[in-house]
Amino acid sequence: MKFIFSFLVIASIGLNASNYPSSKSCNECHENIYREHVSSMHHKSSIFKDEVHKKVKNAVNQDKYSCAICHMPATKNLRAVMSGKEQPNPNSYRQTDGVSCFYCHQISKIYDSKAHKINFSNYNGEKKPTVFGNLKKPYESNEHNSQSNEIYKNSQVCMGCHSHKENKLGFEVCNTKNQYDKTSDCIGCHMPSTSGTIEKEDKGMREKYVSHNFLGIHSLEMVKKAVKLELSYEAEVLTLIINNKMGHSIITHPMRLKFVKTVIKRDSKVIWSNFEKNPIEDKEASFIIVFKDAKGNISLPSKAIAYKLNRNLKAQSSKVVNYKVPKLQRGDEVISTWISYIISPKIAKKLQITTKNIIKPYIGVKESLFIY
Ligand code: HEC
Ligand code: HEC
Ligand code: HEC
Ligand code: HEC
Ligand code: HEC
Repeated sequence: MKFIFSFLVIASIGLNASNYPSSKSCNECHENIYREHVSSMHHKSSIFKDEVHKKVKNAVNQDKYSCAICHMPATKNLRAVMSGKEQPNPNSYRQTDGVSCFYCHQISKIYDSKAHKINFSNYNGEKKPTVFGNLKKPYESNEHNSQSNEIYKNSQVCMGCHSHKENKLGFEVCNTKNQYDKTSDCIGCHMPSTSGTIEKEDKGMREKYVSHNFLGIHSLEMVKKAVKLELSYEAEVLTLIINNKMGHSIITHPMRLKFVKTVIKRDSKVIWSNFEKNPIEDKEASFIIVFKDAKGNISLPSKAIAYKLNRNLKAQSSKVVNYKVPKLQRGDEVISTWISYIISPKIAKKLQITTKNIIKPYIGVKESLFIY
């Protein structure tokens, strides 16, 4: 009996494999976009290509992969993988493709639901499937039907996965909506227009396409755009203003740590700094979320019922931090630096993450003030 069951499953995967377009299949025509996509976190979103996600998933649950609905959404056996009836399969391109090209481009609507929003899949196994996008007049392609859809313009297409997420206990553990519960212009900031052709043969004769790198916290270039810092000094009070320039809160995901480091230098010696060892000593200039469970202990997002620490700053808003400092004199220099960790060093240690680019600090904008 068991044998027959697994045989049937394999047969049905095999059947479908010939239909569902892999991300690689898009490369035949959309070379530029494919090259960017494979380097993006969307392509690397599953346990097969993201060490951090895999380790956290295993810490949460060894068997079930409830995360698949956002991290591996194109898989055919989504329900079975989520419930733990079946295990992820490294030989299935529909799984290793992560948030695949075709998965994103066949979403036609976004539904509201309490725990998180849900993508409505449009694909029914057609030989010539419909892909949605935002081109005014797409050149007729013999590979797929192109169709314009408002959600690829107003960024709603991002919200099926990025809006927010509640854990099983009904507590919200991440959020990329803004404070008005609205979707900001995700596409405008994360998919900038780039020189090059959309399609290899440039049938549409376009000179630009939208970037599919989806750069974010893993990119130094983007980290430099996160905030603007302003410094002023008067009567032994140093004032730092932190402006969040992004369309979402500074902390959207609870693994991150972001902060401002401020030092005062006199004769090239540091005479004052806003924290000694740990940036979170400075309650006003550090941004971090730590959860607690029902017993009040620090917990994983999956067991959280409340915040232990919630230091965040909403979209497009700013905060003023005042420091009582030693009296400054001519020649002194004040330097504030934005620093961002993909994973707060404490969590990285716990999870034994060793990949250099994931555990190193990303140094963002610097602002300085000279006393004349
Ligand atoms: C509702 C959709 C959704 C679900 C369900 C979901 N995630 Fe995520 N996850 C996201 C999004 C979107 C991001 C990127 C968020 C950000 O960077 O702000 C993300 C990012 C992450 C990251 C950070 C990865 C990195 O590159 O640093 C980890 C770790 C993670 N998720 C683990 C999980 C685990 C484990 C589960 C299941 C227990 C899960 N997620 C379920 C949407 C989801
Ligand atoms: C045989 C060539 C070919 C292949 C393979 C191909 N496309 Fe296309 N695609 C085109 C052409 C041609 C256009 C129109 C370009 C233009 O008008 O400048 C297009 C346009 C698009 C658009 C824009 C649609 C719109 O209405 O705005 C999307 C999205 C798209 N393709 C996605 C994909 C995805 C995803 C894959 C892989 C599953 C893929 N394509 C594979 C040729 C192809
Ligand atoms: C099907 C689910 C899904 C959809 C739709 C989706 N994303 Fe994502 N996105 C994810 C997941 C999951 C991650 C995190 C992957 C990881 O780090 O493991 C992610 C990561 C990202 C990141 C990278 C952040 C970093 O780690 O640096 C950016 C930026 C992003 N998404 C923007 C967007 C935008 C903009 C849209 C809409 C055009 C969108 N996403 C649509 C699931 C989705
Ligand atoms: C005004 C520009 C802007 C808008 C609008 C914007 N972002 Fe971002 N976003 C950024 C910048 C800059 C970063 C990188 C810096 C950082 O992560 O601290 C970023 C980071 C991210 C990250 C990674 C954050 C983390 O800490 O893990 C995700 C995921 C993301 N954006 C998704 C979205 C989504 C989804 C939307 C739409 C709801 C959106 N962004 C709207 C500028 C923007
Ligand atoms: C996370 C979702 C997401 C993924 C993954 C994704 N796209 Fe897109 N793509 C979009 C959105 C949103 C737009 C429309 C943005 C706009 O025009 O403002 C778009 C636009 C396009 C266009 C039209 C280009 C243009 O300049 O308007 C093509 C072609 C395309 N995508 C192909 C692909 C291919 C091929 C892949 C994989 C290699 C892919 N996409 C992966 C969301 C995605």
